[in-house]
Amino acid sequence: MNKHFRVLLAAVFALSAGAASVAAEAGGPSAEALAFTCAGCHGTDGSSVGPSMPSIAAMDPEVFIDAMKEYREGKRNPTIMDRIARAYTDEQIEGMAWFFARQRLRLYPQEYDADRAALGARLHRDYCENCHLDGGRPGDAGTLAGQWMPYLEYTMDDFLAGEREWPRKMEREVRAAIEEEGDRAVPALIHFYGSQH
Ligand code: HEC
Ligand code: HEC
Repeated sequence: MNKHFRVLLAAVFALSAGAASVAAEAGGPSAEALAFTCAGCHGTDGSSVGPSMPSIAAMDPEVFIDAMKEYREGKRNPTIMDRIARAYTDEQIEGMAWFFARQRLRLYPQEYDADRAALGARLHRDYCENCHLDGGRPGDAGTLAGQWMPYLEYTMDDFLAGEREWPRKMEREVRAAIEEEGDRAVPALIHFYGSQH
């Protein structure tokens, strides 16, 4: 998609999310009210207290929308999110995406192994940083930096077991990292992400 078009699209989305909360008085609940129902698992305003519930604050809205639709369509291997995602319309999902994108991500310290994290930092730079910029901070490839480590473990297992669709061109890089460092590669990457807060 052309960059200007994306920016324009973002502006239109932002407006419609704003309009949705104004329309709330007249019609259904606002995005904020909908997002409140997620707090029990994803924490207040999307910063989860862990450890297997991912934080969704500051999440890129397009990644958020894709995630919700993939849960709805059975393209990911969820424990609970398929049932939750099915309860919302496209419009409600878009409204929530923009609500969460505006929330500040609060990260909590996690226990990690410094040697593994150091190996992970190097592997990240060589194989992941191209798409997961800035050590994996929230962006258009999701959030890895500071994300809960158990969630990342399940997620990597799902990718490798073919239970979640690989993002375009990601599989090759993950496999190359594993080729290089064997079974140490994925845990090292996760310790690197967990070391950031
Ligand atoms: C009962 C707990 C629970 C509730 C309530 C819940 N979630 Fe989730 N959510 C999870 C879990 C667990 C995962 C990881 C996938 C899975 O196992 O289903 C997840 C994953 C996600 C993801 C993907 C995150 C990523 O990094 O890819 C998004 C987006 C999300 N949830 C949005 C929501 C929204 C929006 C709501 C409220 C409408 C909500 N969730 C309510 C437990 C919950
Ligand atoms: C060519 C680009 C690309 C490369 C290289 C890449 N990724 Fe990704 N990755 C993505 C995109 C895009 C997403 C978000 C996709 C989605 O919605 O499923 C993603 C998602 C993820 C997720 C899921 C996040 C979540 O919240 O559920 C994990 C974990 C991950 N990547 C790890 C890695 C690791 C580790 C590497 C390096 C070994 C890597 N990726 C390399 C593009 C890439």
